Amino acid sequence: MSNDDRTILSEDILLRPLAAGDAPLLLDAYLRNRDRLQPFEPVRTEEFYTLPGQRERLASQLAAREAGTLFGWVLTDGERVIGTITLSQVVRGPLNSANLGYWVDTEYAGRGLTGAAAAFVVRYADEVLGLHRVEAGTLLDNLASQRVLAKTGFTEFGVAPRMLHINGAWRDHKLFQLILNDLPPR
Ligand SMILES: CC(C)(COP(=O)(O)OP(=O)(O)OC[C@H]1O[C@@H](n2cnc3c(N)ncnc32)[C@H](O)[C@@H]1OP(=O)(O)O)[C@@H](O)C(=O)NCCC(=O)NCCS
Repeated sequence: MSNDDRTILSEDILLRPLAAGDAPLLLDAYLRNRDRLQPFEPVRTEEFYTLPGQRERLASQLAAREAGTLFGWVLTDGERVIGTITLSQVVRGPLNSANLGYWVDTEYAGRGLTGAAAAFVVRYADEVLGLHRVEAGTLLDNLASQRVLAKTGFTEFGVAPRMLHINGAWRDHKLFQLILNDLPPR
């Protein structure tokens, strides 16, 4: 991999970094998938489903990218955002690790798009960011997400009781990790 930060996932679907003009596309995507995502996400404010809310969230994510703590991508079909994938909580030093999260539009699920996006993003984490490890957590019954992680080479290393506040309650999570390399931290 060179320093490429984008790739073609399938005939029509591109994976590219979040960009400054994406707020209206993200708003449209989150409105379309509001009910679908609710069981898997923190409780969203009403502000989240507005253009100013999406502009503010995007600005904070782009600032975090500049700071090197979060790297976000969108899956696009033409002008339409149909999913996101994010490396967040990038911590350097002896941990040298990040957290992986993703979702895909209901119409595009089951086509291998998230698996392909995750494979690209973990290679980016290894070869461009020089991370040692990527971690991900899923709800205990989120079998589709667990399958994405298994396909990408992650292994389960435990269950964290009441780890994350998702859909209105503190919920147990299965934890997965992928060791990328054993280079010294940079
Ligand atoms: C999890 C999610 C991102 C997967 O996206 P996707 O693009 O459909 O993923 P892929 O097509 O690459 O792979 C899904 C795999 O799960 C499998 N799968 C789907 N539903 C399943 C189920 N109920 N039980 C077991 N496996 C299942 C699919 O068969 C596929 O495996 P395969 O490639 O071996 O056939 C998508 O379902 C989603 O957006 N869910 C809601 C949000 C979410 O859960 N985000 C992750 C939070 S941890």
